[in-house]
Amino acid sequence: MKRIAVMTSGGDAPGMNAAIRAVVRYGVSKGLEVYGIMRGYAGLLEDDMKVLNFSDVGGIMERGGTILRTARCQEFKVDKGRQEAYKILKDHEIKGLIVIGGDGSLNGAALVAAESDIKVIGLPGSIDNDISETDMCIGVDTCLNTVVENIQKLKDTASSHERAFIVETMGRNCGYIALISGLTTGAEAILIPEVKVDYQALGDKLLAGRKRGKINSIVVVAEGAASAYTVARHLENRTGYETRVTILGHIQRGGSPSVSDRLLASRMGSAAVQAFIDGQSNVMIGIQGNNIVSVDLNRALQKKKELDLSLYDLANTLS
Ligand code: ADP
Ligand code: F6P
Repeated sequence: MKRIAVMTSGGDAPGMNAAIRAVVRYGVSKGLEVYGIMRGYAGLLEDDMKVLNFSDVGGIMERGGTILRTARCQEFKVDKGRQEAYKILKDHEIKGLIVIGGDGSLNGAALVAAESDIKVIGLPGSIDNDISETDMCIGVDTCLNTVVENIQKLKDTASSHERAFIVETMGRNCGYIALISGLTTGAEAILIPEVKVDYQALGDKLLAGRKRGKINSIVVVAEGAASAYTVARHLENRTGYETRVTILGHIQRGGSPSVSDRLLASRMGSAAVQAFIDGQSNVMIGIQGNNIVSVDLNRALQKKKELDLSLYDLANTLS
């Protein structure tokens, strides 16, 4: 019986469990033995893995986080650490490795493909949506729903007190979470790393909004664009509005995955196993349009994900 292994690595994302379930159940249905590796590359180096059967992944689709847990592992970035990892995989006769994680984790996966004879399939799992060659990563939709729900709540209190709220979202160097959540909550301004921040224009926009009769001001700022506190200071100086800062933080990574993430993860997880069965390696499973695709992993990692700035213009026009 051929043996494959699955791991989750880097920042967790809602829907990782649904992907694990799909990998295990699709793999078992195709006659494979599936190992679950605990805590990403860190667990691999500790040989912390176990066989997962069909029933081991029951009831996990709706759970946030990852039952395999996750970690960041510096040792795997060095050659010696990776050579140890390949030996452990070889000793277990693991022929295929499915890595669910963000761009860092997938960079690690690409090295496994380049340096060993293990077949490697990557699945993009990250709330940041910063990976090329796929429209969406697992976890993004749930994250956006969480952010939107929370901004909506902040709008209630902002209106009651006639305050300005600066809401900081995650996303590392990518403005996707801020852009889409800002657009879909009608935020007055969105600050993203892809567009230079102009505090003067921002202040003017908020002042114009109040002149029009707005009783609240919501500014969504991506963590990679500026600190929410810096934005608040600039705005208070310029407008005189009473301002509050909310940093949404890690709540953005939690929660039961949305329908969309459950579906995406189920489709991607099964496609990853099928890619292995078809003899593919060094590929990433992505979604383009509504099609699940298998793309070259190095190409996905080398290409910078472009943010659709027409959505930024649209948000500005509509707010
Ligand atoms: P994410 O996968 O969410 O982007 P990180 O960037 O922290 O998270 O990466 C997760 C883990 O992937 C790292 O702790 C490390 O073990 C592994 N990794 C990241 N980059 C590399 C790399 N260049 N070479 C080898 N392993 C890497
Ligand atoms: O990559 C996912 C992410 O949540 C980023 O948006 C954020 O910058 C980072 O991870 C936070 O990492 P940590 O969990 O180590 O605080």
